[in-house]
Amino acid sequence: MTQMTKESVKSWVPPIIRGMTSDGETALVVTVLEDVQAELQLPLHGAGPFEIEELAASWRTRYSRFCAEHARYPRTIGLEGTSWSMGLGISYDEAVRTSGVSKDPAARADNSRGAIMKRKVSLVTGGAQGFGEGIVRSLVAEGGYVYIADLNAEGARTLALQLNSQAGSTVAFSLAVNVTDEDSVRQMMDSVASTTGSLDLFVSNAGVLKAGSVKEMSLADFQFVTSVDYTGFFLCTKFAARQLALQNIGSDHAYMTDIVAISSKSGLEGSNKNGAYAGAKFGTIGLTQSFALELVTDNIKVNAICPGNFLDGPLWSDPERGLFVQYLRAGKVPGANTVADVRRAYESKVPLNRGCRTEDVVRALCYIVEQKYETGQAVPVTGGQVMLN
Ligand SMILES: NC(=O)c1ccc[n+]([C@@H]2O[C@H](COP(=O)([O-])OP(=O)(O)OC[C@H]3O[C@@H](n4cnc5c(N)ncnc54)[C@H](O)[C@@H]3O)[C@@H](O)[C@H]2O)c1
Repeated sequence: MTQMTKESVKSWVPPIIRGMTSDGETALVVTVLEDVQAELQLPLHGAGPFEIEELAASWRTRYSRFCAEHARYPRTIGLEGTSWSMGLGISYDEAVRTSGVSKDPAARADNSRGAIMKRKVSLVTGGAQGFGEGIVRSLVAEGGYVYIADLNAEGARTLALQLNSQAGSTVAFSLAVNVTDEDSVRQMMDSVASTTGSLDLFVSNAGVLKAGSVKEMSLADFQFVTSVDYTGFFLCTKFAARQLALQNIGSDHAYMTDIVAISSKSGLEGSNKNGAYAGAKFGTIGLTQSFALELVTDNIKVNAICPGNFLDGPLWSDPERGLFVQYLRAGKVPGANTVADVRRAYESKVPLNRGCRTEDVVRALCYIVEQKYETGQAVPVTGGQVMLN
């Protein structure tokens, strides 16, 4: 576990507090506020490093006593010796308002299968476009809150603004991140800690593809693909897992959360003249299995999804740089005269006769989150194009 010191207190206390409010499925939003009088003060013993388990246990006792005495949870929790406090709420807007909190935080509106994502807080890297954008939209439509974390900060911001204005409340947050940069990923997770306390689901979706013959590809291109698609997943898991582990401690080890990597069909079988990508996607599954074995002690499931070709997405369909146009120009599909011919050729490779869609990936995501008895798996979503043995 990371060293917990007074200096880093804002990044490790909110996840513990959020864990304390958990019902095992999700938890309250815990947001850091400046200059707000706190209803409940928690002690911070001595100078760090701290004994996290003991601290969390004593905080849980005080929190439970407050909830029992007032028949509601505290609007604000402060930490002795600091000038800031944390607003609590069933939504982000309620947490910021610090007034009129809901009476029973644990009561979920609906425990049906359809409501599995309701009120869950998720983060999607590469969420500004493509599969990521589709996942973000679906999670919000399911009643969740979503961080859109992308190198394309403007795209992430525009999407968050659109979703918030459609909802009439805060349902999406944008974050600028480069998943290949350790400081950037650390800052992203610090920002999550002070905005919502932490997360229920981390989706490592950001990815890039540069195809090329092994005899021709530059080392720089190979490393570019590897750093985003493989190393990016390591860095994201490193910082997400620390935070999710703190939440689990706050909940007295009763809060199961998820990390999901978006790998690919090319993570399950080789891809001709596309080795950098396929290698990184295979590697992602190796990391998934290994992280799953380790993080099971923190109640974190780690799984991967392996989608088939997203033929409607920008990677394939962009009229100038998309793979259909590139393959047509390169004569990769014999006899193809138009983009439509190339598309048909790729569709006909799939037993279910079409490209993968975002909703297919979202179904796999919901399955993974709902399933409490599986971890370390690579779930294919390929229309039958890849069959596991
Ligand atoms: N498109 C497909 O056919 C397909 C098939 C299987 C798997 N996948 C995987 O799904 C994921 C999404 O693919 P897509 O086709 O939607 O991609 P896309 O190119 O449409 O979108 C990728 C997003 O990731 C962001 N991104 C790129 N580098 C980043 C970095 N360093 N840090 C943060 N964000 C970064 C981009 O800005 C972009 O918004 C990828 O991991 C990809 O490998 C795609």
